[in-house]
Amino acid sequence: MRQLIAGNWKMNGLLAQLDSIAAPLTKAHHAADVLICTPATLLHPARALLAESSVLLGAQDCHAKASGAHTGDLSAAMLHDAGARFVILGHSERRADHGETDAIVLAKVQAARAAGLTPIVCVGESEAQRLADMQDKVVGAQLRHSLPAGFDGVIAYEPIWAIGTGRTPTEQDVAAMHAHIRATLVAHLGAMGQGLRILYGGSVKPSNAKALLALPEVGGALVGGASLVAEDFLAVVRGAAG
Ligand code: 13P
Repeated sequence: MRQLIAGNWKMNGLLAQLDSIAAPLTKAHHAADVLICTPATLLHPARALLAESSVLLGAQDCHAKASGAHTGDLSAAMLHDAGARFVILGHSERRADHGETDAIVLAKVQAARAAGLTPIVCVGESEAQRLADMQDKVVGAQLRHSLPAGFDGVIAYEPIWAIGTGRTPTEQDVAAMHAHIRATLVAHLGAMGQGLRILYGGSVKPSNAKALLALPEVGGALVGGASLVAEDFLAVVRGAAG
């Protein structure tokens, strides 16, 4: 399967940034699948901009319910209606800022699938957990508790301490964690777990993308800061194996 390079714009981006960040992506041919997850306010205009290109569009969260009295929230069907085909779920920033548990992430995964969105489920340990050598246990539990049977989306391994810090795990540590995630997916999901893409995220940038993307079981990258600069994101995409 081709690698997937996904940009998570987080809470960044006004209309003008579609021209400066997203438009340049539509002009190049990419060896990898390329996805941008914009704020929900930009999905509709982004859909129009990306329509004639291979660049995919996604959202950053959805509500677990299909509709109802949830002021300010967005359902998976609304995001699909606006043009999203992917949705990031369980990002550590949402777990921290909004108290999202694995059970909530599981409910959101089911809502996303019901609306035709492909979930990108984020897992990853804190720095304290890494220092205590608990990362395998923590990530294994997150996967078992947030993925329903038959899950056919994408996993993103994002060590919390590597997000926005410029620090990354060693290549050996990334490879070891991705092998652990693969084994957990197969144990939990059976044969289905064998083919799912496992992205690495956390301070991916042009200077380290090629090496990270060449590691075994790394099926792509989830990119924050570097996805907000077109030339940096394109450089990360060029680092993909295809
Ligand atoms: P950075 O690439 O800015 O470290 O962010 C990673 C991330 O959280 C992507 O979801």
